[in-house]
Formats: sequence, C-alpha cells, structure tokens
Amino acid sequence: MRNALGSVDTVLLLGGRSEIGLAIVERLVRRGARRVVLAARDASAPSKDGGTAVPAEDLERLGAEVHVLDFDAARPETHAALIEEAAAKVGDLDVVIPAFGVLGSQAIYDADPVAAARDVAVNFGGHVSIGLAAARRLREQGHGTLVVLSSVAGVRVRKANFVYGSAKAGLDGFAQGLADALHGSGARVVVVRPGFVIGRMTRGMTPAPMSVTAAEVADAVVEALDTRKVTVWVPARLRLAFAVMRLLPRPLWRRLPR
Ligand SMILES: NC(=O)c1ccc[n+]([C@@H]2O[C@H](COP(=O)([O-])OP(=O)(O)OC[C@H]3O[C@@H](n4cnc5c(N)ncnc54)[C@H](OP(=O)(O)O)[C@@H]3O)[C@@H](O)[C@H]2O)c1
Repeated sequence: MRNALGSVDTVLLLGGRSEIGLAIVERLVRRGARRVVLAARDASAPSKDGGTAVPAEDLERLGAEVHVLDFDAARPETHAALIEEAAAKVGDLDVVIPAFGVLGSQAIYDADPVAAARDVAVNFGGHVSIGLAAARRLREQGHGTLVVLSSVAGVRVRKANFVYGSAKAGLDGFAQGLADALHGSGARVVVVRPGFVIGRMTRGMTPAPMSVTAAEVADAVVEALDTRKVTVWVPARLRLAFAVMRLLPRPLWRRLPR
C-alpha cells in the first residue's frame, strides 16, 4: 500500500537481475519504497550469462526489506502462485514490474525455429500469464500499477529482428487491452516503449540512433508513476519518430538497414 505521503511502498520485480528493472527499483527504494520482492530464475545462483546472483544486498543497504523468490517466465503454470507468494511476503503490491526478456539474433532464430518459439513464449506468453495474474491481484486490492516493458521494436516490426519485434508487438497490444480492462478498478498499466538501451541485453551490438541507458528508462518510468502517464517513450522524441516511421511505405521500410 502506498505510504502516508502517497509514494510507493512495495515493489515486485520479475526478472530480478534485469538492468532496467533494477534501475527502476533502486529509484523507488531511494524515494521510500521499503518492501521489495526480486523474483528471478535460479535466484540464488549466478545468472546464465555469468552475471551475479540477484543483488538483494544493494537494496538492503538503501534501507529496503528484500525478499528473493524463484521465478521462471517460461513456466506460466507457476505464475499465479508466485504473485500470491509475493503478496504474502510484503502485502499489497504497489508496483509490479515484469522486466524479463531475451533478445536472440534473427539469424539464430532462422536456423532454429524451436529456439525462436521458446523465446517468444518468454517475451510474450510469460508476460501474458504473469500480467493477468498480477492484474487479478491489483484489481482485488483496488490499486497498484503494472509496468509493462514493451519496445519500439514492436511498434513497427523490422525484418532485422522480426521474431523479437513480433513478440513485443503482441505484448504492447496485450498491455493496452489490459489497461483498458482495468480502467475504473483503481489498478492501472503503464506501457513503456524504450528504443535501443545500451547495456547487458544489447552487449556487442552497435547502438541505434537515439539510444538510451537503463537509468534514463528508469527515470522516465518513475516520472510516469508520479504523473499517472499511461504511455512512456524513451527517449520521448521516439514518439514523433515512430509516428513518421509507421507511415513509411513497405518497400522503403524493408530497405532500412537495421
Ligand atoms: N535492452 C534494451 O535495448 C531494451 C529495449 C526495449 C525493451 N527492453 C525490454 O526491457 C526488459 C528488461 O530488459 P533489460 O535491458 O533490463 O535486460 P537484461 O538486463 O538482459 O534483463 C533481462 C532479464 O530477463 C531474465 N529472464 C530471461 N528469461 C527468463 C526466464 N525464462 N525467466 C525469468 N527471467 C528470465 C534474465 O534473467 P537471467 O539474469 O537469469 O539471465 C534477465 O535478468 C525486457 O523485457 C526487454 O525486452 C529492453
């Protein structure tokens, strides 16, 4: 439940090592959030790409009580119970941030359609099952915000990464529909559309024009939580850029290099 000053008290991050997710949580803790749940696959082990265990201590040093739960986005049958387990730890959920995702290369997906389907199951299916389970909880509470990390990759899908982009397009549509379904319940959805974020997920890739950092995405999300904005483009000027790009004729669009 938001505290007496109306600021966020409890946060659930799904994808507990996500750079963007952790940057948002850190800002919320610095602003007064006191109970945090970090849910991650193999939460106590180093991450699959050689990264660290879920960094609970960093948030504890900032004054938060942190709970760590195991969570696999690819196991939708566990998601409703995970939401209830998180709420049992910290009470009403003020902000829920599903920040998990995988960015495989289109070349790998072309060679391995099964890998493509598995990643779509995480990038879209996992968000649907956790999003619906979270929405049920927020609706019952009568308050709370689901932060959906969509992407400009889903606004107009490019041939360079159309498997990832199509999952994000599905996710963006899901999030908008869910926002409308929750309207009037007290619960709400913020749809976040970052461009290229320089960081772990895009390591080794050449930054696209108008690239941002996880910190910039987090700042924009926190501002949206304060102002009750429903759609966030990061950077903001991508909104105008994509208003134009949506109108480009297909023959021109498919010739764009990236
Ligand atoms: N980075 C960008 O350019 C960008 C741009 C637009 C939108 N986004 C979206 O923003 C979100 C956060 O991205 P990020 O930059 O913070 O990426 P990140 O640092 O790579 O974090 C992604 C997280 O997803 C987790 N994950 C992957 N598969 C999972 C599964 N099956 N179950 C549970 N967790 C799983 C990873 O867990 P492990 O630690 O175990 O590997 C990782 O912690 C993603 O949805 C991404 O698509 C990113």
